[in-house]
Amino acid sequence: MIAELFLIGIGTGNPGHVTHQAISQLKAADIILIPRKGSEKSDLADLRHQICDELLGADTPPILEFDLPIRDPARPYLSAVDAWHEAIADIWQDTIKTAKTVIGTAPRTAALLVWGDPSLYDSSMRIARRLKPAPAITIIPGITAIQALTAAHKIPINDLGSPFMISTGRQLRANGFPKEADTLVIMLDGECSFQTLVAADFDIWWGAYLGMENELILSGYLPELADIIVQTRKTARQKHGWIMDTYLLRRRDV
Ligand SMILES: C[S@@+](CC[C@H](N)C(=O)[O-])C[C@H]1O[C@@H](n2cnc3c(N)ncnc32)[C@H](O)[C@@H]1O
Repeated sequence: MIAELFLIGIGTGNPGHVTHQAISQLKAADIILIPRKGSEKSDLADLRHQICDELLGADTPPILEFDLPIRDPARPYLSAVDAWHEAIADIWQDTIKTAKTVIGTAPRTAALLVWGDPSLYDSSMRIARRLKPAPAITIIPGITAIQALTAAHKIPINDLGSPFMISTGRQLRANGFPKEADTLVIMLDGECSFQTLVAADFDIWWGAYLGMENELILSGYLPELADIIVQTRKTARQKHGWIMDTYLLRRRDV
């Protein structure tokens, strides 16, 4: 097994998001692990290769590809995630074992390119802790989809002196807008869950493909914009075959 694993935040799809620190750390790895094209949205798999080509050039360490397993939708959510993480850890481990045949010696370090920042709705750290024997872990921070959203809309994330919360579409549908905050950022929402709030007084700042050349943003009063976002999202998803979007909701007149 490797002695050290680097989990490297790469931002949200723009090679310009990749920091100098990330580039140095990628170059320092003995191998890079990348999910195979087809095992996730193909544009995203391609982008990891593109980042290596463009930013590391001749210093790119050997790249080993692996297939991401599928999470079992029939199991309850938390137990499905647990089994899925275990399966991914096994695949990382097996892929690292094959590295010796590719690079001639057993690798001491391996790097993974993590979308956005490794701390935000990403389980790479949890999966890494399942590796046996446990390697040392180095984390390189990256630009998150939330930062790409607030930059695109030119807005601060919080109101003056106010807290904000970050949650998921699933949580918004299940629990509504939390009482504890006036600003809520929603990620991982394939169902436009803001539609459950249209009767209430919120503004929305929405963005898809943030940081990428296809970036789309819309902002305004939620009841007036909800249907437009739903339609824009549907059309863009059909056009590109995939979509990732993030939005910020703020109570009016706070
Ligand atoms: C598994 S989470 C990963 C978040 C990532 N670690 C980060 O720091 O942004 C995936 C979610 O991030 C958001 N996301 C990631 N990239 C995005 C992008 N380019 N544009 C809009 N939303 C994005 C979406 O809400 C998506 O459902």
